[in-house]
Amino acid sequence: MALKNFLASLLLAAPLAVAHPGKEEVYAHAALPLERKSLAHCSADFAQPAFIKKTVEIHGRELARVKRSLGIEDKPKLRPRDYISVSRIDHKSSKAVTKGMELSTLFSDAGACMLMPAVDQGPLYVQGEEVRKDITGGEKGIPLTLVIQVVDYKTCQTVNNAYVDVWSSNSTGIYVGVQGYPGMGDPKDASILKGTTLRGVQPTDSHGVASFDSLFPGHYEGRATHIHAIVYLGATKQANNTITGGRAAHIGQLYFDQGLITAADKVAPYNNNKMRITQNTADFLFMQGANGDDPIVRYALVGKDISEGLFAWIRFGINQAANKPVSPAAWWTDKGGVMNPKGPVGQMNGGGGGGWGGWPGGKKRAAKKVEADEE
Ligand SMILES: *[C@@H]1O[C@H](CO)[C@@H](O)[C@H](O)[C@H]1NC(C)=O
Ligand SMILES: *[C@@H]1O[C@H](CO)[C@@H](O)[C@H](O)[C@H]1NC(C)=O
Repeated sequence: MALKNFLASLLLAAPLAVAHPGKEEVYAHAALPLERKSLAHCSADFAQPAFIKKTVEIHGRELARVKRSLGIEDKPKLRPRDYISVSRIDHKSSKAVTKGMELSTLFSDAGACMLMPAVDQGPLYVQGEEVRKDITGGEKGIPLTLVIQVVDYKTCQTVNNAYVDVWSSNSTGIYVGVQGYPGMGDPKDASILKGTTLRGVQPTDSHGVASFDSLFPGHYEGRATHIHAIVYLGATKQANNTITGGRAAHIGQLYFDQGLITAADKVAPYNNNKMRITQNTADFLFMQGANGDDPIVRYALVGKDISEGLFAWIRFGINQAANKPVSPAAWWTDKGGVMNPKGPVGQMNGGGGGGWGGWPGGKKRAAKKVEADEE
């Protein structure tokens, strides 16, 4: 099976609440309450960004065009086309951005709006990473100041004292911290478990804003370029600078304009990345995230050239009552990185690191191995 298909089947088969793309799901989305809709009801609080208005207009036009061409009336099943409209929006901002600026001003007049997408956490989450702003680990890449504002989708109020946990691939498309995921390094090499680069946690401030000094993620086969985020509520910061407890109120994936990805891929070391590119519009999780929502970050360049770095910002509308299941592939502990035998990658690989167990046979082997390990 091609890697791409494999990844798609894996994500579909993952033990988490992965929504299946397709008409039923889209109907279900349309039928869901306010939380699946836009944050437009928050416009008074957010000073209705012209950007969001534009999004809504474009959605409307696209929808009307498709409806006309099909000769049918307003039907929720047309919502799958929304992701195409979202992918066509230019999210580049002309804001002047500088290190040390008041980050909450990024959200004063505009902000990409991401809602309650029931998106998958993905197979490569490492739980227990440190609370730290700089997650670059000294690696090369385009500096990315990632700014996330967390708001309550019902009250439109910012959510302070939440913890935002992010993770992404590095400039050359590798996720460190998890061993044995196909395409992510030598499955037999456990040294990847020592890696914490591009993983970390930050608290939200009094404006609901959490920010990271990161790197623009590199592309890899099977997924559009993206960054994962979990918003934890009620977590406790430990003496060793990690968080424990609390609940995952929001699990999201954020994306970038295709043109920005193309521009980044011309810069070293991105231009050494030989992995195949998956376009936003070819990624079913993007489709799922962008049907009705806009999961693409707004961004501005720090200098004239993209290589000087960029700021990217997005607003998460979260349901504070939510408690999403989290299944880490590994844990970052006082003993370093440890694979979770029952996590998404551990199950694939027969209950531990070191070897690719195949799919779906690997899952059966994983079950046997876990049994054996427990004896
Ligand atoms: C990305 O991570 C892999 C695995 O640790 C490493 O071999 C590679 O050099 C990293 N890329 C960059 C640009 O540092
Ligand atoms: C931090 O402390 C917690 C317990 O409070 C422990 O479980 C975890 O392994 C520690 N993490 C690191 C990286 O030392």
